[in-house]
Amino acid sequence: MRLLSIVGARPQFIKLAPVSRAIAAHNQGGGMPIEDHIVHTGQHYDPSLSDVFFQELNIPKPKSALGIGSGSHGAQTAEMLAAIARIIEEADPDMVVVYGDTNSTLAGALAAAKLNVPLAHVEAGLRSFDRTMPEEVNRVVTDHVSDLLLAPTDTAMKNLANENLVGRASKSGDVMLDAVTYNRDLAVSRSTILSQLNLDEGSYGVLTLHRAANTDTARLGVLLDALNGVATQHIPLVFPMHPRTAACIDAGAEIWQPAHEMSVIEPIGYLDMLALVDNAALVLTDSGGLQKEAFLLGSPCITLRDDTEWTETIDGGGNILVGADANRLTAAVIDALSRGRNRPTTTSATRYFGDGKAAERIVSAISGYFG
Ligand code: UD1
Repeated sequence: MRLLSIVGARPQFIKLAPVSRAIAAHNQGGGMPIEDHIVHTGQHYDPSLSDVFFQELNIPKPKSALGIGSGSHGAQTAEMLAAIARIIEEADPDMVVVYGDTNSTLAGALAAAKLNVPLAHVEAGLRSFDRTMPEEVNRVVTDHVSDLLLAPTDTAMKNLANENLVGRASKSGDVMLDAVTYNRDLAVSRSTILSQLNLDEGSYGVLTLHRAANTDTARLGVLLDALNGVATQHIPLVFPMHPRTAACIDAGAEIWQPAHEMSVIEPIGYLDMLALVDNAALVLTDSGGLQKEAFLLGSPCITLRDDTEWTETIDGGGNILVGADANRLTAAVIDALSRGRNRPTTTSATRYFGDGKAAERIVSAISGYFG
């Protein structure tokens, strides 16, 4: 069986890694062999956002690298769509597999749907119910043109049922739990980020900020000032800065300087991020994946958004939404620091996100699709 897996952005490399391992195990186990042709769209091209993930996570080298790069949503998605369609025609796969909710996901989904090639969506059914987010549009469209919907959670299954898509869905569990489970010990043994940055366990917070709604609007200045306040008055922050955010700060009319207690660093790889989050007093973020990694690793998370697609992290008591409101942010920081870390038990991670074997279920669902 021939698959064509489309990835392009940092979170997709993390999701692909467990599935690639499960495909290799499936092939060793003597099932119908699966050949996976990996396509890297080039949406993320900086080595710190791309190469480091392939190296650390041992992901097979992409067979096709499209090198599309940055652009407006329309231009980027359209260029990827045309290039992926050409590869589908040449490679003639049995199924296209897309991951998550980026523009690479949408382009791969549309290319497969237009060419009538069966399409599987890993991480189907997530909804923030905020259509102003580019990712929400990508998720909804991708789910509706997919033939096999691999949903991480019960909430995702419910969302798919509400859109009459449940007949094509199967609950796999969450591949990001697979990734955390597999890599946590590796992070402890390999990452030197704490000593490099001179950090002690529990003495700092981790900050990431890159969503368009926060970086491309007046919210950016409000958030950066409030976060400087958190760093100076409550807890020092480590801020691996996404290039998009750096570009928005550079282009801004006002000059922002990080406080002395805020250490702005280059984007970091997966193992360093796991080590940082695992030892942090709290996490401040607008990323989807990091909310969940914080939950799974037991660091209280404060989400700098008005909504989230990972509602389980809130139901499970490990996350709070504060938007871009400085007062709510400060109150949440004080509360999180007073309550301390609350490592989830295996049961709470399992209750929401599966058993760390989602990738195996994804590979069986894909083989099962072909009977
Ligand atoms: C994309 C995804 C987002 C995901 C994020 C993970 C979409 C709509 N968004 O956002 O869901 O959470 O990836 O990081 O697909 N840039 C570089 N180097 C790179 C890549 C980007 O400098 O290697 C800069 C460029 O200025 C670019 C900007 O970042 O214009 C935005 O990049 P883009 O890929 O459009 O979106 P992300 O913000 O990375």
